[in-house]
Amino acid sequence: MSTKVTLTYNNISVDLPVITGTENESAVDIAALRSAANLITLDPGYKNTGSCLSTITFLDGDLGILRYRGYAIEELAEKATFLEVAYLLIFGELPNIDQLTKFQNDIKANSFVDEDVKKIIDAFPKAAHPMGVLASLTSALTAFNPSSVNVDSDEDMYKAIAKIMGKFPVLVAWTMRKTQGLPIDYGAKDLDYIENIMKMMFSQPNETYIINKSVKEALNKLLILHADHEQNCSTSTVRIVGSSQAGLFASLSAGISALWGPLHGGANQAVLEMLEAIRLDGGDTEKFLNKAKDKDDPFRLMGFGHRVYKNFDPRARIIKKAADEVLDDLGIDDPVLDIAKALEREALKDPYFVDRKLYPNVDFYSGIIYRSLGIPVQMFTVMFALGRLPGWIAQWREMRKGKEPIGRPRQIYTGPTLRSYIDISKR
Ligand code: ACO
Repeated sequence: MSTKVTLTYNNISVDLPVITGTENESAVDIAALRSAANLITLDPGYKNTGSCLSTITFLDGDLGILRYRGYAIEELAEKATFLEVAYLLIFGELPNIDQLTKFQNDIKANSFVDEDVKKIIDAFPKAAHPMGVLASLTSALTAFNPSSVNVDSDEDMYKAIAKIMGKFPVLVAWTMRKTQGLPIDYGAKDLDYIENIMKMMFSQPNETYIINKSVKEALNKLLILHADHEQNCSTSTVRIVGSSQAGLFASLSAGISALWGPLHGGANQAVLEMLEAIRLDGGDTEKFLNKAKDKDDPFRLMGFGHRVYKNFDPRARIIKKAADEVLDDLGIDDPVLDIAKALEREALKDPYFVDRKLYPNVDFYSGIIYRSLGIPVQMFTVMFALGRLPGWIAQWREMRKGKEPIGRPRQIYTGPTLRSYIDISKR
């Protein structure tokens, strides 16, 4: 296999090295292009641009493969706990029992959030979108934990990671309870990571909270499936913000904002709202498929299509099965699940979707599970953020430890050329 690409422009030939990854994906390293030929590459939306070398997550969109540190997502979702997966993503290997116990204890020891943070929560209106609240609170953590992280010290890095892993679920739970007008729950020391999330989110002030096994399993699986997805919009945001040496919490807050959009993590909320709208409209799935195909109609089939997966999204397959199982276990008959299945069935036969390789993505069925667990629709993207936290941390850590340069793309300017200022009286 050739190890270089030769590019000729204006009679200048430039040899550009080809970099090949462990799964034989290849990239042309264009770093020398500008100095040698005065050229940059142009790729709006970074559709064909690699921004880094990474050892964290591998995905093959054509074959529907997703692996964290080499482990298949199917196997992790079936066998692992979310905390094991978090450790794997962040530190590179599955933890042994001592490492996992220490990680869990260190996280627990950091699971208190300064009481003053409650004052910030109180200042938000109840109707504020939880993603906005979560991004603000995550950013505010910087003010309450002012020491900066020495990225050259593994111990310092570890402490910062345990801190955010401990505090983030508290913020998530508080954010939800705010919308419901419920008092804050602090979790319990004897509960594990997922159980504490459940207690902090779902406990009622006048009841002893009992862990439901099906809910715990479903939540564990959903969080694992969302834990990382290489250089997507929010992860690239975390890396690029972190590359300016902004702190971990500030970088994560930026990632949360990026995730919020309906074309990214916000799609899970949009999917459920779409399914509900179809149900209320009488359940005519064909009508909505036609709207999605109509180029004069801005409506898109939410939860369908993916920048990278052009065959199937392996996470969607696992979630669809999990949705069936958890609804069955909890004895819930949700009509929107039938609508979702009908939409999928019909879209997968329709040339519009087939030709464009549009398949259900991770968000198509996840909202149905979240709803069955009693999570309000506006919280769905927050749940995505909760799952994505270890991925963002892992990517931030890799970027900082790798001493990557500040992220700063270039552009081709297409505006006016030099012109003279015109006095306001003459405009
Ligand atoms: N419904 C209808 N048509 C669609 C859809 C959809 N959901 N998705 C893509 N298309 C069409 C586009 O109109 C376009 O058609 P054209 O070639 O005739 O112009 C073609 O398919 C390609 O679409 P692009 O938007 O160019 O694809 P891109 O890779 O840029 O976007 C994206 C991917 C944003 C996910 C898109 O498929 C989409 O908007 N899906 C709905 C939102 C969604 O579910 N987002 C969650 C993604 S997963 C995640 O972030 C966790």
